[in-house]
Amino acid sequence: MCGIVGVTGNDNAVSILLEGLEKLEYRGYDSAGIYVNDLKGNDYLVKKKGRISNLEAAVGPEVHGSVGIGHTRWATHGVVSVANAHPQYSEDHRFYLVHNGVIENYKELKAKYLSNVTFESQTDTEVVVQLIDRFVQAEGLSTKEAFLKTLSLLEGSSYAFLLIDSLDPETLYVAKNKSPLLIGLGDGCNVVCSDALAMLNVTHDFLELHDGEVVTIKPNSVKIEDAAGNPVERDSFHVSMDAQETDKGTYPYYMLKEIDEQPNVMRKLASLYTQESGRPNVNQALINTMKQADRIYIVGAGTSYHAGLVGKKLFEKLTHVPTEVHVASEFAYENPLLSDNPFFIFLSQSGETADSREVLVNVNAHDYKSLTITNVENSTLFREATYTMLLHAGPEISVASTKAYTAQIGVEAILAKALGEAKQQVIAEEFDIRQQLGLVATGMQAIIDEKEMIEDLAKKYFVPTSKAFYIGRGIDQTVSLESALKLKEISYVQAEGFASGELKHGTIALIEDGTPVVGIITQKRTANLTRSNLQETMSRGAKTFTIVRNGLAQEGDTIIIPDVDEMITPLLSVVPAQLIAYYTSLNKGLDVDRPRNLAKSVTVE
Ligand code: F6R
Repeated sequence: MCGIVGVTGNDNAVSILLEGLEKLEYRGYDSAGIYVNDLKGNDYLVKKKGRISNLEAAVGPEVHGSVGIGHTRWATHGVVSVANAHPQYSEDHRFYLVHNGVIENYKELKAKYLSNVTFESQTDTEVVVQLIDRFVQAEGLSTKEAFLKTLSLLEGSSYAFLLIDSLDPETLYVAKNKSPLLIGLGDGCNVVCSDALAMLNVTHDFLELHDGEVVTIKPNSVKIEDAAGNPVERDSFHVSMDAQETDKGTYPYYMLKEIDEQPNVMRKLASLYTQESGRPNVNQALINTMKQADRIYIVGAGTSYHAGLVGKKLFEKLTHVPTEVHVASEFAYENPLLSDNPFFIFLSQSGETADSREVLVNVNAHDYKSLTITNVENSTLFREATYTMLLHAGPEISVASTKAYTAQIGVEAILAKALGEAKQQVIAEEFDIRQQLGLVATGMQAIIDEKEMIEDLAKKYFVPTSKAFYIGRGIDQTVSLESALKLKEISYVQAEGFASGELKHGTIALIEDGTPVVGIITQKRTANLTRSNLQETMSRGAKTFTIVRNGLAQEGDTIIIPDVDEMITPLLSVVPAQLIAYYTSLNKGLDVDRPRNLAKSVTVE
């Protein structure tokens, strides 16, 4: 969370920073700010509450310069206010700092070193910038020495820092621990960003940073040093994505664009990860390693966790390897009992989720083998896992995840098929994933083409309500969790996903006249049971409707989705739920892509 940008050596610093912040707004949108210096003795600090557009409106024509730093905030320490927005600065206005992360021991540091300093904000970040200033003023350290000394005092913290000294403004100082940060190499200028997306208009060549390194950046040089001060040489990597790929084009919101992109993502996965013969096209070394595993552990958060729940069903059916799914933030601190030969799969759209990364750090410390399935090449989880598979879904900008969920399930299905075949499981050999993904793509398009009908349902059932339920059994129950999460996060309807048989053991007490209950029915074995459970809620006043696989449809069903193999029905049954959430939010007049209190890339634990 929080997005950071910086530039040195470019007269368009203001527009580079503002455009970069717009691209990073998905990381937080509570407040934003920039500091710019023209190297001729003029500098400017502009901070605003709310969206980047508020900041843009506040930046007058006088604000100019060739070096600067910027920040978009997702509040952790301190309320949402201008004073707590970044950049934070030292008492004497010499140092300006932007920060993504959390400083665990900031109160102790403040009490120990800064008891006579006047603070303007409640942030942990201000303590850091005041400390740097203190060490320069009181101990005569250089800026870099003071920065290093301050970093050495930060215990158990996560940070990405970008510091500027207004007495030597051309130089940017950068360091990170756990939080992501990249250096972009421009033509006569260099940039810094939390995500390459932010700087594609300046450069496509980036350097990754490792935890503990400190970087000194000038317009024509980038000097990386390790924690001991030794120079580090590192090759840059090229990001081939077009800046336009991150635009929403004619769509009103990114979420609708990203829902619409799903059929193509399915086709892309089929063509990249399967051969024309239908055989999977998956890294053989990965399959050989997975073959040794006696248990698979899938780790993720939020929607990625929900994709993991579907993955468990796929791996157990197609490979017969017992599979557990864990919420990352719980798994990280539970010392779980592991099998003799565990294999870990990390699911993460962003590849940066701090909770998941904490688990991966532990996994690596024990030398266990792992795979990250992510949408973002070179992200932290991508770099630190033993193996990686990319989702190839294209940038997902809307805070509510849609195409990453379906892409994760698509990749899991391909991988489970490949491992199952390697383990000579007949069911895996017979499962034609390439053909199925083709059917899924066509099926998704058919559902998307029914947008208007789904919008009517959203208006009728969900816009007027404050609570709702999705229910289902087995794999449909996992989709009910994801469907409810989509509705909650962007429309603020209190929605719950439930195992339909479990409802009568307590939760049914919440059903009142008019409470919407949606039954997801795609599995032959349990279809009638879910229908009965739906009936039970109807008898108590619920307004019910169904999302049903065609082969199981009956008169009176509401949304009929095309038939695909029962193992992968979530790829279709989730699409109406995504559209319901979208249209509920839209018709309530909410900001679909930027729901309150959320950020897309959750880089704090
Ligand atoms: C919900 C959503 C979140 C993310 C979660 C994990 O729509 O997007 O629940 O799924 O924050 O993020 P990643 O997948 O980036 O690890």
